[in-house]
Amino acid sequence: MKPKGPAERSGESGKGRSMGMHHRHFHLCIVAISVCTAIADAASAGDFARDRIGGKDDNHFDHGEGDMNLLPQQSSDQQNNSKSPYYPAVFIFGDSLSDVGNNNKLITLAKATRSPYGRDFPGGKPTGRFSNGLIGSDFLAEHIGLPTPPPYLSAGDNILHGVCFASGSAGILNSSGSIAGQNLPLAKQVTYFANVKRALQARLGEQGTKDLLRKSLFYFNVGSNDYVINYFLTNGQVPSLLQEQYTPSQFQDLLLSNLIFRIEELLAMGARKVAVVGLSVLGCLPFQRLIRRADTCIESINDIVRAYNVALLNCIRALQAAHPDAVFTYLDGYRLADFIIRQPSAYGFENVDSGCCGSGRFNGLQTCSVPGTYKVCKDASKYLFWDSVHPTTEVDKLVIAKFWTGSYPDAIPYNLRELALVS
Ligand SMILES: *[C@@H]1O[C@H](CO)[C@@H](O)[C@H](O)[C@H]1NC(C)=O
Ligand SMILES: *[C@@H]1O[C@H](CO)[C@@H](O)[C@H](O)[C@H]1NC(C)=O
Repeated sequence: MKPKGPAERSGESGKGRSMGMHHRHFHLCIVAISVCTAIADAASAGDFARDRIGGKDDNHFDHGEGDMNLLPQQSSDQQNNSKSPYYPAVFIFGDSLSDVGNNNKLITLAKATRSPYGRDFPGGKPTGRFSNGLIGSDFLAEHIGLPTPPPYLSAGDNILHGVCFASGSAGILNSSGSIAGQNLPLAKQVTYFANVKRALQARLGEQGTKDLLRKSLFYFNVGSNDYVINYFLTNGQVPSLLQEQYTPSQFQDLLLSNLIFRIEELLAMGARKVAVVGLSVLGCLPFQRLIRRADTCIESINDIVRAYNVALLNCIRALQAAHPDAVFTYLDGYRLADFIIRQPSAYGFENVDSGCCGSGRFNGLQTCSVPGTYKVCKDASKYLFWDSVHPTTEVDKLVIAKFWTGSYPDAIPYNLRELALVS
C-alpha cells in the first residue's frame, strides 16, 4: 500500500525502488514538514550549532534600506587560478532563471531562441537563455571554476562536470507552466538525474560516482512558476483554479512538501551538498503589474512570497536535522532585488519597473522576440528586468556573486564558496 501524500507527489516516484525506501522517504518528508515551524522557534537547536543565525532573531526578512550588506561591495572573491574547481560538478534544477537550453528541444512557447534574446551574450546570439546575456547558471559555473553545465536534453556524454536540468516555465508542480506547452517539471528533472547517475556509474564506477556526487553542488532555484504561471495566473479579479483549491498557506505547504520530497530523492541517489534559492520579488514583475493594472509592486503577492521563503528556510533546517550527513544552505533570492527596487541608483540602475524588452504597460507582455510586436531598450544594464518576467544579465551577476560570497541573511548558514569547503 503506497502512502498517500499531498496531491502532486502521490505517485509513481517510488517506481523501481523498494517500498521500504519509498516509505522511509515519505516519512522523512512528513517529519521535515511537521518540524519546519518548530525548528524555527527553537533557533538555538543543537543540530544547528554551526548555523550562524543560532540565537539570533529569526525575522531576517526586514528590508532595512540602510543595510550595508546590500550596498555594492568590492568582491572579496579572488580570481581563483588554481586548476581545481570548488566543486567537481554542479547539477542545476529549476526554471527559466537557470535554463541554458533545455527548452530549445521542447514544444513550447517558452523559448528564447530568437533575438534580441542573447544580444549581450558572448557572440551576440540567442542560445535559449531567457536573458540578454549570461544567466545565473553561467555565473555560478564561473565562480566554481567549471564550464557552464550542458542542458540535459542535449548533454550527450558531456556529464562529468554536471548537468543543467532547468527548464523554462517549469515549476515544482507538474501542472505549472503547462499553458505554454511542454516543460520539464521538477519531478521529471529528478528522474533525468537518475539517468545521469547511471551514465556516470558506467563511466566512473560505483565508488567513483559516489565520491563525485558527495562533493558536487546540487542547486535548486524553482517555485516562481508555481506562483506566476499557476497560482497567480489570473488577474486577481477571479481566482485561479489553484486559488479555489488552496489557501496561500496550503499552497505553500503543497509546494514545499513536494520540493522536500524531490530533494530527499536526490539525497537517496547520493547528493550531499544542497543549496536552495528562495523566491524573488514576484509581485514586482512587469507581467504582474500589467495583468493586475498596478503601478507599483503588488504587495499582497510579495507578502505571500516572503511567507514562502520563511517556510522554505525552516524546511531546509528541518532537512538538515533529518540528514546530518548532508549539508544544506538557503540562498536569499529576494532581498537584493527588493533593495535595488528601493534604491536603484546604488547599483547604477535607472529602470526597475519595466522590462527592457516587450510590449504593453511596463513592457509586461511577453512578446520579446515575436517580430514586429516588441520594443527593446538600448542599454539593458540599466534595467532590473530584461523582459516581462526575467532579470537582466547584470542582475544575475550580482545575485550569484551574493550567493557565492555573501553572508547572513543572504546565505544561511553557508554561502556557496563556504559550502564547497565543507568536508
Ligand atoms: C508528475 O510527473 C511525474 C513524471 O515526471 C509522474 O511520475 C507523477 O506521477 C506526476 N505527478 C502527478 C501528480 O501527476
Ligand atoms: C582556489 O580553489 C581551491 C579549490 O577549491 C581552494 O582550495 C583554494 O583555497 C582557492 N583559492 C583561493 C585564493 O580562493
